[in-house]
Amino acid sequence: MKKKIEIEIDELNDISELSTQDSEVLTAAMKASKNAYAIYSGFFVGAAIRLKSGIVLSGSNRENASFPTGTCAENTVIAYAGANYPDDPIVTLALCAKIKDIFTSYPVSPCGKCRQIIAEEEDRNKESIKIILFGRDKIEVINGIDSLLPLRFSQDKLLG
Ligand code: THU
Repeated sequence: MKKKIEIEIDELNDISELSTQDSEVLTAAMKASKNAYAIYSGFFVGAAIRLKSGIVLSGSNRENASFPTGTCAENTVIAYAGANYPDDPIVTLALCAKIKDIFTSYPVSPCGKCRQIIAEEEDRNKESIKIILFGRDKIEVINGIDSLLPLRFSQDKLLG
């Protein structure tokens, strides 16, 4: 038997097509990219999240001379949220990146590790996360991590 997995992506041309709430999260991610510590890659990533209570938090990538020790922007902000607002589920996440002070033309997509981290948050809070990926040419909006990480490993698998 052959199975096909379909994913749904909403493609937008401009920030103005986002709701006020979503554009607030994306704007926070864009601002956060300014604080990225990315002296090795030159890839300045900003991530922001909205919690169910309405709080918006942001973070950026933190690189290290010992390269694998660096942290992605999504990881930074998700860890901060979990540590400080453990009972406030993430409902929206926005991501963007700058190279030489210009936002990428393509929508920046979370790395594999960050997808797994986002998935854990959805499981922990039993709440799907809207993911907004910014690029100058287009913005992609994806409802729920399953579309970015199908057939994923999750806590239920540990139970056998
Ligand atoms: N990076 C992120 O912050 N998030 C991602 O999802 C992709 C990659 C960072 C890690 C590293 O500091 C730089 O971008 C280049 O890989």
